[in-house]
Amino acid sequence: MTLDEFRKAADKLERDGLAMVAKAADADALTAARTALVGRKSGKLTELMGALPSLPADARREAGAAANRAKQALEAALDARAAALAAAAPAGPALDPTMPARHVWRGAKHPVTIVLEEVIAIFRELGFTVATGPEAETEWYNFSALNFPPDHPALDMQDTLYLEGGALLRTHTSPVQVRTLQAYPPPIRILAPGNAYRRDFFDASHAPMFAQVEGMAVDEGITFADLKATLTHFANRFFGATRTRFRPSYFPFTEPSAEMDVTCGVCHGTGCSACKGTGWIEILGSGLMHPKVLEAAGLDSTRYSGWAFGMGPGRVALARYGIPDIRLLYDSDVAFLEQFAK
Ligand code: PHE
Repeated sequence: MTLDEFRKAADKLERDGLAMVAKAADADALTAARTALVGRKSGKLTELMGALPSLPADARREAGAAANRAKQALEAALDARAAALAAAAPAGPALDPTMPARHVWRGAKHPVTIVLEEVIAIFRELGFTVATGPEAETEWYNFSALNFPPDHPALDMQDTLYLEGGALLRTHTSPVQVRTLQAYPPPIRILAPGNAYRRDFFDASHAPMFAQVEGMAVDEGITFADLKATLTHFANRFFGATRTRFRPSYFPFTEPSAEMDVTCGVCHGTGCSACKGTGWIEILGSGLMHPKVLEAAGLDSTRYSGWAFGMGPGRVALARYGIPDIRLLYDSDVAFLEQFAK
């Protein structure tokens, strides 16, 4: 290589290099340019210097000086570009610690499921097992066997959807009483959880489809004292120190009949819209089983007696969690339901 060729190569390196530096749009591109141009191992400048020994000895000094000028020009440009890029970068840390974390979905049991599982666990300790029955029921199991007289006004409160072929959507879980008594001999203690359907308005305390859980104990010598003691024990276990009260009521399939109330969980008894100002929430209907029901199931009602209850786990959830409106349980609003995740 001649001195002239070397000078030209040094000039070209400087020109091309300055253009490359000017084009570097960010810190990464600039680092790459620095390595390519003045990198010690395989940069373009190192390559040019490698040609020095091939020059005539008297030309090497000048050639070295030309290479040095190119080097200084490139390094100055690289530093200036680095300073310019740093100044243009947004102020503050690149990490924003105030940015909300990505939402994590947590699966949760529905409050009605939570209540049902706990109710079943408490009664299991007392020897109750779980029984089930169909939601599409016959009129006989849903009404006749339970001592509803045909065309009785009590039927009006339990209007429902009638299906083809004489079936209907059961209005309560009580038909499971008769189905179980037909299938197993006493002593029997069961809980029957499931859905029931009624022609009801969808309001703060009613839903046209709702969960129920039936309870029944049948044996020789069962009395109302057994009913009261068992249900009071349950309420104390389930609600803790809550107060309960029994009010006389009427069902065709029980005699005597009582409804059980617990202290309202929203107002704790002072009265609010959830309990219609009474301070109490009705959670179940109950009573001693009517002899006609035992007879309909084929039992001798002079030998056997029993008690039964029908509880609304939705109502129980309202009382326990202080939920002001039963519709929240059926809205499938994730923000509401997620609160029950553990
Ligand atoms: N089946 C009744 C209802 O749905 C509740 C009930 C069950 C009452 C068992 C007494 C005994 O309203």
